[in-house]
Amino acid sequence: MIIAVDGPAASGKGTLARRLARHFGLNHLDTGSLYRAVAFRALAAGADPADPDAAVAAARQVTPRDLDDQRLRDEKVAQTASVVAAIPGVRAVLLAFQREFARRGKGAVLDGRDIGTVVCPDADVKLFLTATVEARALRRFKELQAEGGTAIYERVLQDMKLRDARDRERRTAPLHRASDAFELDTTALDADAAFAAALRFIGETKPRR
Ligand code: CDP
Repeated sequence: MIIAVDGPAASGKGTLARRLARHFGLNHLDTGSLYRAVAFRALAAGADPADPDAAVAAARQVTPRDLDDQRLRDEKVAQTASVVAAIPGVRAVLLAFQREFARRGKGAVLDGRDIGTVVCPDADVKLFLTATVEARALRRFKELQAEGGTAIYERVLQDMKLRDARDRERRTAPLHRASDAFELDTTALDADAAFAAALRFIGETKPRR
């Protein structure tokens, strides 16, 4: 079984995808970490992340071992990830890895921006998470505070709007709901309620194979 979980930043897709993977005994891939790893490598090399040749070269160097690096979680890396993610060559390099991951074993839960539309258009289940940008910025702000950071809410909100715009307006694989995806607005839902709603939907869905 393949489950696609897409949505904008801090919509709750990572938490939901991890819980679904555990529940169904599937592998889980946070595809955002691939784009973050490309960004991290480009920044570390002192390259211009908006330069397609440099970004594609960084994408070719990414290995699965890169993905657990805590430094990928930095806001600067997140912003740069959305810059490299707009480059078609970068997306092409990462596509094969994601598709192969999805097919391995019993299947997988992949979360990202284009899983239901591009990476796994035949996924058995497609979920598209949304939430107001203010609610998402507040979640990220609280996470940063909990980590002991000195974040400013207005700044987090601005950064999120910037990244949303880049992800929605790019020409290659922009963030949008697949026509057959179930939309779940998590603005007023906590992680348990979102998980319960997703399970209800999956229970009503007929497997494709
Ligand atoms: O965790 P958060 O939602 O803040 O970000 P992420 O999922 O780690 O993704 C970081 C960036 O990678 C996004 O802003 C997108 O630009 C890009 N991305 C993408 O283009 N396609 C994906 N399937 C996943 C992420």
